[in-house]
Amino acid sequence: MKALIGLLLLVFGHGVSSVLHSLQYFYTASSGLPTFPEFVVVGMVDGVQMVYDDNNTQRVVLKQAWMEQVIRDDPSYLERSNGLSLGSQQAFKDNIRTLKKRFNQKGGAHVYQEMYGCEWDDEDGSTDGYDHFGYDGEDFIELDLKYMTWVAPVQEAVTTKRKWDQNRGYNEQQKHYYTKQCVDWLKKYLSYGKSTLQRTERPRVSLLQRSPSSPVVCHATGFYPDRVVVFWRRDGQELHEQVDPGEVLPNHDGTFQVSVDLNLTAVPQEDWGRYECVVQLKGIEDISTPLDPALIRTNWGKTGVGGDGGGEHMSHPLHLTSSQPLPGVPGHC
Ligand SMILES: *[C@@H]1O[C@H](CO)[C@@H](O)[C@H](O)[C@H]1NC(C)=O
Ligand SMILES: *[C@@H]1O[C@H](CO)[C@@H](O)[C@H](O)[C@H]1NC(C)=O
Repeated sequence: MKALIGLLLLVFGHGVSSVLHSLQYFYTASSGLPTFPEFVVVGMVDGVQMVYDDNNTQRVVLKQAWMEQVIRDDPSYLERSNGLSLGSQQAFKDNIRTLKKRFNQKGGAHVYQEMYGCEWDDEDGSTDGYDHFGYDGEDFIELDLKYMTWVAPVQEAVTTKRKWDQNRGYNEQQKHYYTKQCVDWLKKYLSYGKSTLQRTERPRVSLLQRSPSSPVVCHATGFYPDRVVVFWRRDGQELHEQVDPGEVLPNHDGTFQVSVDLNLTAVPQEDWGRYECVVQLKGIEDISTPLDPALIRTNWGKTGVGGDGGGEHMSHPLHLTSSQPLPGVPGHC
């Protein structure tokens, strides 16, 4: 479960300054996790979830209002997606059984995941695609799109690699999906969801500190899109040491947050005035916040703001939800 969330978080760790758009799907099959559905599909455009499916709903659920228009214009979209999802569910369940045997596992909790999608750079027009499978939080097998072969980083995947490499027809179909269809869908979703996906929401920036000896956290929240750049400067120079850059995380309201820690252990307080936190988001002016002790919200009541800064700073748990499979039903391991 932890590994699974880790894999999802990876998605938000991409280069935040780029102008890349992305379409991503996450399929997760699990066994031995009683409170988690045994098959879950989540689909996202630019990090925003637009579809969900799991073994309980047994149908694709739309998570964005603009998806309704996609359906109106393409009436068999849901039916096609449901069919593919159901086929994938069966394949994933079979695969988890196969892999348990191959790894000599009897009981316990096991997770088999696929993460696939494509990216499109709206400035230079370049695209990229990927298809990665994982088992119990470790890489299992992935597609090399350039050479159209499967790469097996673990011994247990070699059998699967041989089998999938031989399936030329399926691999050609995959190549077409990742280089053409996936990118076409991405552009289509971006245009349907334009008013939501291509909006800009300004971050609220706070400086937070848990205890007098903790790092000072520059916390930006409520921004959209997720491609933000947050860094600390000293005397106008960007700092790379003393700094712990956090991951961009989703909020429940469709905006994002990120925290970047500054370690001030070796900095005398009279030098604090040389520091500032800078937040950059495309389409707005840079937001600069000086490291002024009076602006820092703390948990020990120094500034009177009290603990509420800590509350806002808590990262929200990720909710696994949503998606629809378009590259076709994956093969058996
Ligand atoms: C979905 O999976 C869960 C196991 O995580 C199971 O309890 C539930 O019965 C499944 N639902 C259906 C409709 O099969
Ligand atoms: C902060 O930096 C000091 C050295 O200047 C180091 O000993 C300490 O571990 C660092 N603290 C954190 C939380 O990284």
